[in-house]
Amino acid sequence: MLGWLTVACWTRKLPEPEFDKSKNATKAVSGSQRALWRDSVFIKACKCQPVSYTPVWLMRQAGRFMPEYRHIRAKVGFLELCKSPDLAAEVTVMAQEKLGVDAAIIFADILLPLEAMGVGLEYAKGDGPVIFNPVHLPADVARLAHVEIEDSLGFVLKAITIARSQLNARIPLIGFAGAPFTLASYLIEGGSARHFDKTKSLMYTNPECWHALMERLVDVTTRYLNAQIAAGVQAIQLFDSWVGCLAQEDYKEFVLPYTKQVITTLNQGVPVIHFGTPTAHLLELMRQAGGDVIGLDWRCNLDEAWRRVGYDVAVQGNLDPVVLLAEPAVIKKQAARVLQQAQGRPGHIFNLGHGVLPNTPFDHVRFLVESVHELGGQSSDA
Ligand code: CP3
Repeated sequence: MLGWLTVACWTRKLPEPEFDKSKNATKAVSGSQRALWRDSVFIKACKCQPVSYTPVWLMRQAGRFMPEYRHIRAKVGFLELCKSPDLAAEVTVMAQEKLGVDAAIIFADILLPLEAMGVGLEYAKGDGPVIFNPVHLPADVARLAHVEIEDSLGFVLKAITIARSQLNARIPLIGFAGAPFTLASYLIEGGSARHFDKTKSLMYTNPECWHALMERLVDVTTRYLNAQIAAGVQAIQLFDSWVGCLAQEDYKEFVLPYTKQVITTLNQGVPVIHFGTPTAHLLELMRQAGGDVIGLDWRCNLDEAWRRVGYDVAVQGNLDPVVLLAEPAVIKKQAARVLQQAQGRPGHIFNLGHGVLPNTPFDHVRFLVESVHELGGQSSDA
């Protein structure tokens, strides 16, 4: 362990491993009943409690960088994969086990509830997602279908139940949804965007339509997330991936009340990670909107960001995903820098500042996880 980390580890408990790696490969027979995840480093870190080593998981940890995932995708389309509970659960559990990360995230996509709203969704090869009937007018909002979660998104809930039963009982399962702003941006732009000009134009020129849309999205998202909690996830991540395109005042007026409503309407006791990019200018406001953990992108310094949001909230992040394309020595050095900025304070969850890129070598990802465990205090016999 590096010297500065030893000094900084005053907040940690004695190195009593809460997670025995040798048990990782053994699937829990009665995982959900035994609920060993309650004492996991991930859940404790979400609650700012001291842990014996820094937990790590990675956004998009199940994805194209993984040969086994590509193998499955050669036979099954992405939407079909999301809608096949057994396969989605398999991919979820496989990623956690192959990488040795401290949490699993259910394999799904933030756009699935939009498809359920009847706008038409396709993931076109190379072009990202396409929404066939984007929202531009109040009449488009009125036309959005009411979503019965069990009927339209039951496959996600089923995948959660299966994944939970197959995961090691010590490993928490994270559920997720897009935050209202990011979902609205896909609905309005009709897909991925660069400047979010259509989204912001609607916000500025037709605020009533904007507010009506956000109310619809809050309703679907809260019911969807509460259903995921009921199905068996132990934590929630709310992805406001593109919210950093907004000015502070616009975030306050057009987004904050809705994100806050989602977070406060979720069943209590399940930690919420509130994530966005590039959000250096919005961190205090995101904190106000809520979340037990604030997700940080790589553009900000973790130490400064944490000081700004306050040490009574946990933080997640924030290695640049592109670092994983570099050689192992660079990966380790950069991971050490992130850990150094966290100073071993209770409440740091190591992650990337955004998702793993598809062209990342698998071995580099695995090396990162091992390095974080080593540098972040996991004893070698654990
Ligand atoms: O993190 C995980 O491992 C869980 C699965 C997960 C996926 N998408 C699988 C996926 C999660 C948490 C998401 C969230 C998601 N989806 C976000 C928020 C996170 C972020 O990146 O900001 C967003 C914006 C989306 C929307 C989305 N889905 C886009 C823009 C794309 C196409 C671009 C791309 O990366 O290919 C997707 C497709 C998608 N979602 C893939 C995966 C593994 C790739 C699909 C494939 O296999 O071809």
